[in-house]
Amino acid sequence: MTKLFNVHDYRKAAKRRLPKPIFDYLDGGADDEWSLRNNTSAFDKYELWPHQLSGVGEINLATRFLGTEHQLPVMLSPTGMTRLFHHHKELGVARAASETGYAYSLSTVGTAKMEDIAEICKTPKIFQIYVHRDRGLTHEFVERAKASNYDALCLTVDAAVAGNRERDFKNGFSVPPRLTLASLASFAAHPHWTLNFLREHDFRFINVVHRVDAISSGTLGVMKYINSQLDPSISWDDAAEIVALWGGPFIIKGVQSAEDAAQAVEIGASALMLSNHGGRQLEGSPAPVDCVRPIRDRVGDKLELIVDGGVRRPGHLIKALCLGANAVSFGRPYLYALAAGGENAVKAFLTSFKEGLKRDMALLGCADVQVLDERFLRSA
Ligand SMILES: Cc1cc2nc3c(=O)[nH]c(=O)nc-3n(C[C@H](O)[C@H](O)[C@H](O)COP(=O)(O)O)c2cc1C
Repeated sequence: MTKLFNVHDYRKAAKRRLPKPIFDYLDGGADDEWSLRNNTSAFDKYELWPHQLSGVGEINLATRFLGTEHQLPVMLSPTGMTRLFHHHKELGVARAASETGYAYSLSTVGTAKMEDIAEICKTPKIFQIYVHRDRGLTHEFVERAKASNYDALCLTVDAAVAGNRERDFKNGFSVPPRLTLASLASFAAHPHWTLNFLREHDFRFINVVHRVDAISSGTLGVMKYINSQLDPSISWDDAAEIVALWGGPFIIKGVQSAEDAAQAVEIGASALMLSNHGGRQLEGSPAPVDCVRPIRDRVGDKLELIVDGGVRRPGHLIKALCLGANAVSFGRPYLYALAAGGENAVKAFLTSFKEGLKRDMALLGCADVQVLDERFLRSA
């Protein structure tokens, strides 16, 4: 891990470790992957403006959002089926997050039990829900999240149907992975991953499997799961009902327009993850960082804003906060690290990201993330 300096190095290491269908599922996006690329390149539209001689001997990264204190303004985005990338799965990521001070969010379609994650996580923890056709599941999630003391609930709203992820179609990707004739060579070329997969075959969506038999009955494409199990008819009224049922900090994930943000205020949400699902759903949808200004202008401080997608460097976080976001989140970066070397690699990546954030704050001449604003930014 000592030779891995940044997210690009971790990505390359993940590519070496994973069979192609698995790497492509992690790395890929919808259609031509323009939104995926644009999520990161959009940060280049903004420049950081340093204020020198500002006394940066001590840098404060701590801040408050989602009704609680955070050691730094970052949360790890919810990602399903983390077991695919390493047998340490969500448990290893949550441990690494907890030890390095990051908030962690667990996906509905994770491969670790929400109660087990709650025990590990000493940092703020969030449970992400999809609304399944079986509405009883939503109520069950809310009760279980309350019983396990989750700090916030996050409702993902940008997956009414599955995005068009062509890499997965071409690879015949399924969960659990199937060793087909077409993919055999790639699995054989990655014996470490493949042997581990054969030895520890725990690919179930453990939090839903008692009610949704889709996976236990055989292999299933991810898109098929989304299309067959999630309820595309959900509306703002349904979201309002879940907000009320939960009664605590509530994030809506997948909002990009000011109109939707205003609606989120109406139904009592407390935060938005500005997100296009990492470019995996609607191709052509805008970069989350570009959504901050118009949404902040529309809703003022009635909502907390988390920029989700494209964040690869600490400087991206700083730009998002200067524009008016409260925090950022990322998915692929920690998954690349997990695939590259399990829990320790995630810890190493998160530690270096945090150190990089302190360094960039010092170079910017700003000693406190809470005072970042447009004074430190210019449109390039
Ligand atoms: C492999 C993978 C699985 C994901 N699974 C989920 C999920 O189960 N629920 C969800 O709301 N978002 C999911 N996402 C989207 C992430 O939460 C997040 O929006 C995205 O990764 C942010 O973009 P980034 O990867 O560029 O940081 C997933 C993303 C990836 C890469």
